[in-house]
Amino acid sequence: MRILFGGDYNPEQWPAEVWDDDYRLFDLAAINTVTLGVFTWGLTQPAEDVYDFSVLDAVVSRAVAQRRTICLATGTGAHPAWMARAYPEVTRVDFEGRKHAFGARHNSCPSAPAFRRFSAAVAGRIAQRYRDVVTAWHVGNEYGGACYCARCAAGFRDWLRQRHGSLAALNDAWYTRFWSHTFGDWDEIEPPNALTEHWRGPDHTAFQGITLDYRRFMSDAMLANFRDEKAALRRFSDAPVTTNLMGMYQPVDYHRWAADLDFVSWDNYPPDEFAHARMAFTHDLMRGLKGGDPFWLMEQTPSTTASRAVNPVKRPGVLRSWSWQAVAHGADAVLFFQMRAGRGACEKYHGAVIGHSGRADTRVFREVAALGAELRDLGDLTIGARTPARVALLFDWDSWWALEMTDGLNRHLRYQEIVLAYHRAVWAAGADLDALPVTADLDGYDVVLAPALHMLKDDLAERLAGVAARGGTVLTTFLSGLVDAHARAYLGDPPLTSLLGVRVDEWDAREPAVVNPVTLTDGTVTAARLHFDLITPLTASVEGTYGADFYAGTAAVTRNDYGGGAAWYVGTVLDRAGVDRVVRRVLDRHGLLGPYADVPEVETAVRVTAGGVPLLFVLNHRDEPVEIVADRDATDLLTGTPVSCGATLRLAARDVLILR
Ligand code: GLA
Ligand code: ZN
Repeated sequence: MRILFGGDYNPEQWPAEVWDDDYRLFDLAAINTVTLGVFTWGLTQPAEDVYDFSVLDAVVSRAVAQRRTICLATGTGAHPAWMARAYPEVTRVDFEGRKHAFGARHNSCPSAPAFRRFSAAVAGRIAQRYRDVVTAWHVGNEYGGACYCARCAAGFRDWLRQRHGSLAALNDAWYTRFWSHTFGDWDEIEPPNALTEHWRGPDHTAFQGITLDYRRFMSDAMLANFRDEKAALRRFSDAPVTTNLMGMYQPVDYHRWAADLDFVSWDNYPPDEFAHARMAFTHDLMRGLKGGDPFWLMEQTPSTTASRAVNPVKRPGVLRSWSWQAVAHGADAVLFFQMRAGRGACEKYHGAVIGHSGRADTRVFREVAALGAELRDLGDLTIGARTPARVALLFDWDSWWALEMTDGLNRHLRYQEIVLAYHRAVWAAGADLDALPVTADLDGYDVVLAPALHMLKDDLAERLAGVAARGGTVLTTFLSGLVDAHARAYLGDPPLTSLLGVRVDEWDAREPAVVNPVTLTDGTVTAARLHFDLITPLTASVEGTYGADFYAGTAAVTRNDYGGGAAWYVGTVLDRAGVDRVVRRVLDRHGLLGPYADVPEVETAVRVTAGGVPLLFVLNHRDEPVEIVADRDATDLLTGTPVSCGATLRLAARDVLILR
């Protein structure tokens, strides 16, 4: 097996004569994999009692004849029009309470019995029909959004009975004596939306407990849809089952899904061309869903997206560099959306390996083909290879939700930005990182970062203390560890107090323009913004102090020696230089600074092959060449060039080395 290369291919949208050209070009680009049938439900089941696989048969048998690896979708990412008419329950009610009619996609109510029945049925038929030729199953497409219909309300109440057991426990968890909310009957409970608990949108709720539970319920309701189809596939096939996730996608808690996925796959559409660090983190997060197992990059655009207000092309070299970045972080498949551009509808101008012209002599096609050749030539070396990270970063959807839906903080605080700032510092310093759920085993890590980990669940406080006790370092920030699983504030000293060795009696929130300079003990002065904890050190030593306002001279950053290790606390939003400073001190203490920590925009990532051989990926994200000094004797696997320790290596703009 080698790296899977190809992507979403929808030839049902164009005449079969064109398919010859498609495969001729696929051969030119060393494309070995096609993802088929992602939105074919309207074709495979044109009416309630009619299944018609003639088109999909032709599509699949052509791919088989061309000896491609097939990832076959169940096609249920959009329901057919007849279903919405005959079973209006399948369309959703939105956050505003509007009942939707047929249209668009990703639009099925997860609780609709008709959707659940029909989706499982079509998945089963597809499995039965194509099981012999399929390498992996792709269920649905990009599960997301939410529904607030009466059936979902009923499902929510059932879910709540399971979770809370009794109304007394629910009232307690949700803190319903506030604003006269005590529930005396399960049927009094409504989904939290614009008509009920919310004002000004999904992040402004009167009751965090209710909204948190609804998001958890919605994640689980959509997961139940995935499970329906997976069970139907399993009746006929043992091939692995996945669905394409969306990285840091707020509405769905992927940690709740991870156990049900046979492998992780995700779609990488970064917000802009400077998102290297962010993408690295998202790969790490997706890899972390299943304990570090390799994942598939299920989609990326070869060039432009279509859904944004402005859709720039990927600059020359970006496609290659970002693809290798995915491999560097654990991808065993590099797939595109889309293999050929369709003629109509809203994605006709979306980037494609083959454009409307059908030509091979385009810039995009040439770049795809060059990448295909490189991936082919690398062979199977990276398949199954793992990331040897000693730094963990805890990422928690509950904390994300709770932090951003809670009044009384600073609405400019964004969980992703806080997390990404800490990740970025580790990334820039060249240390491999695993982004993990709060339930993960922390034993193998020297450093555990828990930025803005607002919600502290189960035994996490003890496990974090355990990291420090055995000599590791824990780093956390403002607003961490303050609430329980229902977003109720802890009473008394919060559970992390003894580990952190500080007390925070109040915090000051300021507009983004307000800067308070923080001086670190090494003399560096950095800018702090938005949120300022007023810290009383108990056992911690002060590592940084505020320079302004009535709390000038008091602690902003602290370190508490604990057991053989330490716990750092950063009580404010430091600028990039400040976060870098703190994170590098932590990494340095554990000998975790990478070989090119001081070369900006040069990324390193390690994968250890199945045979135990470490491969060092070096990526130059700059638009200009960079020179680095080899830290080992090695061979560059992409060129076959031997490299000797101490030699100067020149990476062209956007270039990549894989050193073995
Ligand atoms: C998503 C979807 C695809 C396509 C692309 C376009 O990832 O899964 O069907 O719409 O976006 O970028
Ligand atoms: Zn619904």
